[in-house]
Amino acid sequence: MLIAQISDLHIKRQGKLAYGLVDTAACLRRCVKQLNALDPRPDAVLITGDLVDFGDAEEYTFLRGLLEPLAVPYYLCIGNHDGRDALREVFSDHAYLHQHPRFVQYVLDLAPLRAIVMDTQDPPHGGGRLCDERLDWLEKTLADGAGRPTVVAMHHPPFVCGIEHMDVQNLAEPDATKLAAIVARHPEVERVLCGHVHRAIQTRFAGTIASICPSPAHQVALDLRPRGPSRFIMEPPAFQLHRYTEQDGLVTHTAYVGDFGGTHPFFDDNHALID
Ligand SMILES: [Fe+2]
Ligand SMILES: [Fe+2]
Repeated sequence: MLIAQISDLHIKRQGKLAYGLVDTAACLRRCVKQLNALDPRPDAVLITGDLVDFGDAEEYTFLRGLLEPLAVPYYLCIGNHDGRDALREVFSDHAYLHQHPRFVQYVLDLAPLRAIVMDTQDPPHGGGRLCDERLDWLEKTLADGAGRPTVVAMHHPPFVCGIEHMDVQNLAEPDATKLAAIVARHPEVERVLCGHVHRAIQTRFAGTIASICPSPAHQVALDLRPRGPSRFIMEPPAFQLHRYTEQDGLVTHTAYVGDFGGTHPFFDDNHALID
């Protein structure tokens, strides 16, 4: 089972650049092309929020067209830039978006894995919340899996990463602590997969690993200074590939979007190391 995770697409209305600089649509087109060219192809693509920039139907309609060429099934998760109603309206045929009557959270059977996708949105705030209703649903949904290996996906990371202007809008307390208590009771959680910070970041969390996926567009600048300014940087766009087998467990690769000149052999035709 190969799951590709892409995150923080920030698609604008057609022709509009993000922050006056980033052509997020072109970035997504390049990423989709690269995902389609993967061999083996992923079995599913999980998109962990900030799908669009302002959460309106026009942006989602444009996003839908950009995702049309994707040759594998994709699943949408909500982020702080998204809009629940407009998302459900434009992707009305994505039945999983309606599993929960209020929140855009759902469970997927990606045998042999399960994926539980959470809704951490707390409009109009940029930060994330998981109220008791959402957490109770998570606890029950985990229990329903009877110990099957599971990834839990959500937009806002439940941990402090050291980039201060992002940490002030991560998953708020006490929700992150309550989430950790639930995850700790379920050792079948292979990973907590997040977005929001536009960088590849990992930490130990509640007996598993919580990780953040980079963006196919702009990245948040790496700045660990106290009160560092809120800035982005056009570092290489990237996505993550999560490979799961019963024998090897879940292993994550970060892959960069772009043409880096192809591969080169280590050995010549006589199997001698090229020096
Ligand atoms: Fe984002
Ligand atoms: Fe975000």
